[in-house]
Amino acid sequence: MSPRLAIVLGTRPEMIKLAPIIRAMRDRVLVVHTGQHFDANMSGFFLDQLHIGQPDLLLEVGGATRGSQIGQSLIAIEQFLITEKPAAVLVQGDTNSALAGGLAANAASIPLAHLEAGLRSYDRTMPEEHNRILLDAVSDMCLAPHRSNYDILRQEGISESRIRVTGSTLRTALEDLLPDLAERNDLLLQHQIERDQFVLATVHRVENADSEANLRSILTELASLSVPVILPLHPRTRKRAAEFGLTDLLDQLRVTDPLGYREFISLAADCALIISDSGGVQEEATIVKRPVIVVRSSTERPEIVGTFAHLMPVGSPIGQKAQEILNNRSEVHQHLSSLPYPYGQDATEQCVAALDELLNV
Ligand code: UD1
Ligand code: UDP
Repeated sequence: MSPRLAIVLGTRPEMIKLAPIIRAMRDRVLVVHTGQHFDANMSGFFLDQLHIGQPDLLLEVGGATRGSQIGQSLIAIEQFLITEKPAAVLVQGDTNSALAGGLAANAASIPLAHLEAGLRSYDRTMPEEHNRILLDAVSDMCLAPHRSNYDILRQEGISESRIRVTGSTLRTALEDLLPDLAERNDLLLQHQIERDQFVLATVHRVENADSEANLRSILTELASLSVPVILPLHPRTRKRAAEFGLTDLLDQLRVTDPLGYREFISLAADCALIISDSGGVQEEATIVKRPVIVVRSSTERPEIVGTFAHLMPVGSPIGQKAQEILNNRSEVHQHLSSLPYPYGQDATEQCVAALDELLNV
């Protein structure tokens, strides 16, 4: 049997960015899902839409505290790795699931690869920042999306031999699933919106969703806009908005349940402007060539600030900036369309080549 790669994932963005690699290495892959995300519209629909299929191991750590998510996953994944003996483990990004997978590989003495290595927000209040740093430190192969991530890893003392600049698999993920124009038109009709005449927004970061003042401020800015705002609501944000009594603000927006990947990227490609605190959505803006207001005080993707991305912390005039962009949307879209995708050309192929190196095939 050829050497197998165990891929550990647990959340929506991990499923999306790992799907191209899972599809490319299909017969040689074991998939472990921690269950960190567990609602059908945060997990099951993505496994189906992205053709990942049923995981080889499915845990149930969703909704637990950070320590429990990491601890419970670590124990179960270590055992799985000892039993299945894959030749290497791959994790992606900066979630608790990714860290658990990385620590389990380390515990079982199995080589580890980290997809999306070398990103840093330098905001040490973010659990994600700690997860990233720890993962890059224990990884045998750091798969960096951009040259700037290579530089960061080198500055942190990670040897050149442990780094490959591969680009990001997100472009493959998106381009493989973006619906054709007819389906996109149907979706616009369903949502009763017109191309380039609406804003697509997402909010889920702890610092935004878990603070009543911050969440109120963001929703107020969104509600002030002159065009419809589609807001697919992350379960964290839905819970918090209800707890904080912010449903009156939500009522002024076009709130939906979390959307499937095809639906979301379709709307991202057809909106006038994206407003988001998401990591992956910032990158997607560079593929669909739409401007994104990043509602955060830092980003781990500084290379796109000033072109695709506008960093606007809570409390800054987000609505005013959005309105400026909306007023000039044709010029803005035209300009962004002329800019290249910054995260590599054939990332999936490069990642598979690097992983084959790690698997010794
Ligand atoms: C996690 C990641 C974050 C990533 C995000 C992607 C960490 C530290 N955070 O944050 O980096 O950007 O996923 O979306 O790993 N919930 C549900 N149903 C679900 C999923 C979650 O109800 O399917 C609820 C949980 O019970 C919890 C809250 O949403 O109350 C937050 O979930 P959790 O997985 O802890 O963190 P995320 O905010 O999703
Ligand atoms: N996404 C989706 N449906 C939604 C909202 C987002 O499919 O309703 C996708 C989006 O296209 C992106 C990913 O989810 O690829 C981003 O996930 P999220 O914002 O939850 O996490 P982050 O990238 O910030 O870690």
